[in-house]
Amino acid sequence: DKGGWSSFMAKEISEQPDAIGNTLRGRLVDGHVDIPELTELGEPRLREVDRIIIIACGTASYAGMIGAYAIEQWARVPVQVELSHEFRYRDPVLTDRTMVISVSQSGETMDTLMAVKYAIERGVTTVSVCNTQSATIPRESDAAVYTHAGPEVAVASTKAFVAQITALYLIGLHLGRVRGTLAADAEAEAVRQFETLPEKMAEAVATHEQIAQLAHWMADTRSVLFLGRHVGYPAALEGALKLKEIAYIHAEGFAAGELKHGPIALIDHGQPVFVLVPSPRTSPLMHAKVVSNIQEIRARGARVIAIVEKGDTAVLPYTDDVVRLPLSDALFDPILQVVPLQWFALELSTAKGLDVDQPRNLAKSVTVE
Ligand code: M6R
Repeated sequence: DKGGWSSFMAKEISEQPDAIGNTLRGRLVDGHVDIPELTELGEPRLREVDRIIIIACGTASYAGMIGAYAIEQWARVPVQVELSHEFRYRDPVLTDRTMVISVSQSGETMDTLMAVKYAIERGVTTVSVCNTQSATIPRESDAAVYTHAGPEVAVASTKAFVAQITALYLIGLHLGRVRGTLAADAEAEAVRQFETLPEKMAEAVATHEQIAQLAHWMADTRSVLFLGRHVGYPAALEGALKLKEIAYIHAEGFAAGELKHGPIALIDHGQPVFVLVPSPRTSPLMHAKVVSNIQEIRARGARVIAIVEKGDTAVLPYTDDVVRLPLSDALFDPILQVVPLQWFALELSTAKGLDVDQPRNLAKSVTVE
C-alpha cells in the first residue's frame, strides 16, 4: 500500500520522521543513551574494544562512513569503514579486541553476510545494525541493534539510511558512556539533537515541492555532481548513488577539498553541482572552506544548488538555487541534507518516465556475492 503516494519511494521518504523516532524509541533514558543489546555483551568487552571496523555495501556503507565520525568523536576508538566485499580479501588485522559492526537494511546481503562470518571465525565481536527482524546477519552476530524503520519496499534505500545513521550514533553514544570518553555536555547536546530530529526531519521532507520544480528544468541533464565535506562527503556520495540508481544519470560525489586535485576539470558551463554546505554556526571553518569551493566552481560556470542551514546568507551571491534546512548540529546535518537529494533523484526519475521503485538491473536485496 503506497498510502496515497505515487511510489513506495515517495512514501518511504515521507516516513523518515517516524523512522527516526522508531530507531530512537526506548533508547534515550533519563538523558542517556542505553542500548540493552550492547549491555548484554558485557561492559568489560565494550571497554576493551581498541578498533572498530564497519562493513556494509552501497547506501549502508555511506551510513557507516557518517557513523564513523560520530563513533570516533564520542567513543574515542579508531573506526574504519570498509566495503564488505573488499574486507576479507586483504587479510585484515583482527584481534579479540576488534569490533566489527555490519550495517544492512535487509540483513541478507551476501557480501556482508560472508564478511560477518569471516569476522566471527576470527573471534571478533560482531554487532549488526539491521532493519529486518530475525534476518540472517543479525542472527549470526553477537548483538543486533535493529533500526525499526519499518519495511522498505523501494529498491532505493531512503528511510533505512537515516535510521542506520541514527543507530550508529546511538552506538557511539552508548560506547562513549561505557568507556568514559563522552563528556556530559556532549551527551546532553546529542540527546537534545535527537529529541528535535524527527520534527526537523519533517521540515526536510517538506522541501519536496521546491525540489520538484528544480528537477523539472533538469529533466535532460546528463551529469550531476555532489560536493560535501566531513559528514557531508558521504552524504554527497549517497546523493550521487540515488541519482544513478533510479534516474540512470551519471553522477559523482566528491569531498569538496578534493576538487582542486582533479575533478574541477569536469566543471564546464551549466554543469549542475549540488553543494552540501556545513552550518556556519557550528562549523565556521568548514563553512568558509565550502563557500570558497563554491566560488571556485561558480567562476568556471557551474550551476550551483546549495543545501544550506536556514539563515546562511554567505552563500547567496554564488548560488543559483538554495534549499534551506532547519538549524542543527554539524554531525546531524547529513541526516537532513540527504532528504532533498532523495527527492531530487525521485523527481528526475519520474520526469524521465522511469519506474522509481523498480530500477533496471537492480534487486532490493543482493543475495549473491
Ligand atoms: O540490504 P543492505 O542494506 O545490505 O543493502 C546494501 C545495498 O545493496 C543497498 O544499500 C543498495 O546500495 C541500495 N539499493 C541503495 O539505494
